[in-house]
Amino acid sequence: MNEIKIFSPATVANVSCGFDVLGFCLDNIGDEMIIRKTVDKGVKITRIVGADLPFEVTKNVAGVAALSILKSANADFGVEIEIYKKIKPGSGIGSSSASASGVVFAINELLGRPFNNQELTLHGMKGEAIASGVEHADNVAPGIFGGFTLVKSINPLKIIALPTPSELYATIIHPKIEIKTSEARAILPKQIELSKAIKQWANVGSLVSGLYTSDYELIAESLKDYIIEPHRSQLIPHFDKVRNASMNTGALGCGISGSGPSIFSLSKGEETANKVAKVISKIYNNTNIEFDIHVSKINTEGIKILS
Ligand code: HSE
Repeated sequence: MNEIKIFSPATVANVSCGFDVLGFCLDNIGDEMIIRKTVDKGVKITRIVGADLPFEVTKNVAGVAALSILKSANADFGVEIEIYKKIKPGSGIGSSSASASGVVFAINELLGRPFNNQELTLHGMKGEAIASGVEHADNVAPGIFGGFTLVKSINPLKIIALPTPSELYATIIHPKIEIKTSEARAILPKQIELSKAIKQWANVGSLVSGLYTSDYELIAESLKDYIIEPHRSQLIPHFDKVRNASMNTGALGCGISGSGPSIFSLSKGEETANKVAKVISKIYNNTNIEFDIHVSKINTEGIKILS
């Protein structure tokens, strides 16, 4: 195989209670990438469509991730990368990690699959760190593993793939304002109250249990964020209205996707997810803020090979 075309999906990190540890993978929102073997070693980014991103390899998340995996494999070839961005940078649905995880997945295929998903996540994180300033895996891992993932630890990296209840659907609204992950991290408190921490880690445990048992009521009870959301929601205009409208329409939960500004809701069944989309679209329709809206099944496969 000399060339591969892939679909690298958007992802939702944090999932309300699991800051920096939980994430899930979306199905119909994502970038496309073409990775081609070259005789000359090294990495070249030859095309970027849909976003204004650096072509300089060491400044581009896909470039850095590609260098990392090629070096680790001691590959006897180089690659050319074409990136077709559909996920807007700064949207909160894992734009940078889609580029990073997509490229490492594709190069692993070109190499004959020497690396497992844990190792691919590690190389993807090297690229992701360029964009957000810190190595975090909660967007990279769900893209590579598919479904829901838990980052058990970063060093050493340990990702746990979690089951996905079959009727779970996500609604994503992306109000088109930019929030930089670094800024959304800078406003967070360095210390948290024990009483809030207790509620939060109880919710992480019960959400994981709910995913294993397809207990939608328990999932709904667990999708709460006592620690991060009170700070970050202030950066997102109309967040409270969107959350209240989602919950009143029957969503199981609603929270900030990653570091925002996108907001996700999870629902049982596509019908409810579509209703949620309609109701929350109305909220932003009454403002001068442009937005995108998506309804997606949870993608249990992760990155897909297109050709
Ligand atoms: N867990 C990270 C954060 C995800 O919330 O800062 C960033 O997309």
